[in-house]
Amino acid sequence: MKIVIIGNMGYVGPEVVERLRETYPTATLIGYDTGYFASCLAQVDYLPERKLDLQFFGDVRNFPDSILQEVDVVIYLAAISNDPMGNRFEQVTMDVNYKACIHVAKRAKAAGVKSFVFASSCSIYGVTNKLANEDSNVNPLSTYARSKVYAERDLRVLASDSFSITCLRFATACGISSRLRLDLVLNDFVACALASKQITLLSDGSPWRPLIHVKDMALAIDWAVGRSSSLGRFLAINTGSQSFNYQVRQLAEAVAFQIPGVEVVFHENAAPDKRSYHVDFERYQQLAPQHQPQYDLLSTISGLKEGLESINFSDVDFRKSSWIRLNVLNNLQSKDLLNSELRWHFQNQPAMITL
Ligand SMILES: NC(=O)c1ccc[n+]([C@@H]2O[C@H](COP(=O)([O-])OP(=O)(O)OC[C@H]3O[C@@H](n4cnc5c(N)ncnc54)[C@H](O)[C@@H]3O)[C@@H](O)[C@H]2O)c1
Repeated sequence: MKIVIIGNMGYVGPEVVERLRETYPTATLIGYDTGYFASCLAQVDYLPERKLDLQFFGDVRNFPDSILQEVDVVIYLAAISNDPMGNRFEQVTMDVNYKACIHVAKRAKAAGVKSFVFASSCSIYGVTNKLANEDSNVNPLSTYARSKVYAERDLRVLASDSFSITCLRFATACGISSRLRLDLVLNDFVACALASKQITLLSDGSPWRPLIHVKDMALAIDWAVGRSSSLGRFLAINTGSQSFNYQVRQLAEAVAFQIPGVEVVFHENAAPDKRSYHVDFERYQQLAPQHQPQYDLLSTISGLKEGLESINFSDVDFRKSSWIRLNVLNNLQSKDLLNSELRWHFQNQPAMITL
């Protein structure tokens, strides 16, 4: 078994590598990433890439076909991965999340790869009046969400009996990871609670937001890698759990409940966040009963609290720091390391490291 994980050096990737190494101890695991967040490590005793056989440093917009030789599975995580980054880098978001994904999928199919797993997002639903299932209309409200809709649309027609495609429409990620990020709603709330004892909601807190722990995202990817082709040559599936569907104000209240002395400040007159999606995860429950999410709201909050306390986290200004992915990209640009297309100034060819 040979698996290529593209975009393995972000928040989710290290957990995916860890999980796949457990499930497939003898598999050849190959990472490919441009390394924007390579140095953003938290709570690690060793580099997460140590569990790979090979790490390539390269831009997915110049993905070399040679890496696909004798590969069984490609997992596509690479992305400009949230709305603020997508708004700032619109063209790059379309190029990386959508166009490069389709290009790699076509090359993978031509090279005889059997399975392609794509990290999609529940944000494609945008705003819902009722529980959104996989047959509901999509309503992408951002460049990021549109890039996922377009990628899914073009992947669908590439699927065949010998090339199965699974699009996992993930709920919003949360939880501790070796490349922890604090630009995610629950992670942000726990960080606010620990650093300043106050969680200030920028909206009225009414939007619905389904969540999933990063380790459970890895579990779902593990399922997609091993899923039977009898489930269909193309699957786009909501990935999360019915019980981890909350309104933003409930998330803040749960954090305040678990971390004593924390005040939650609501902006009752603030305009609600436009994105609000309440999602139905029943199909995932039916198709992947052995890979259901293990973490709930309370266990995720405790894990974040313990993880942040173990690194003595106390940065009241963390929203201005490199815990936030957009700040990392802006910083790399301001140092003239990345150009306007988010390409490194000093790298033309992929570099390879054998681990
Ligand atoms: N975090 C979430 O809430 C969430 C929710 C749903 C779906 N997803 C999706 O899951 C995937 C992984 O998310 P994440 O949180 O780990 O994102 P991340 O931003 O932390 O990591 C993305 C990785 O892709 C790499 N990358 C970006 N552009 C690249 C390029 N041009 N060439 C090569 N590598 C490139 C980055 O260096 C980074 O390591 C993404 O596709 C994301 O859209 C994430």
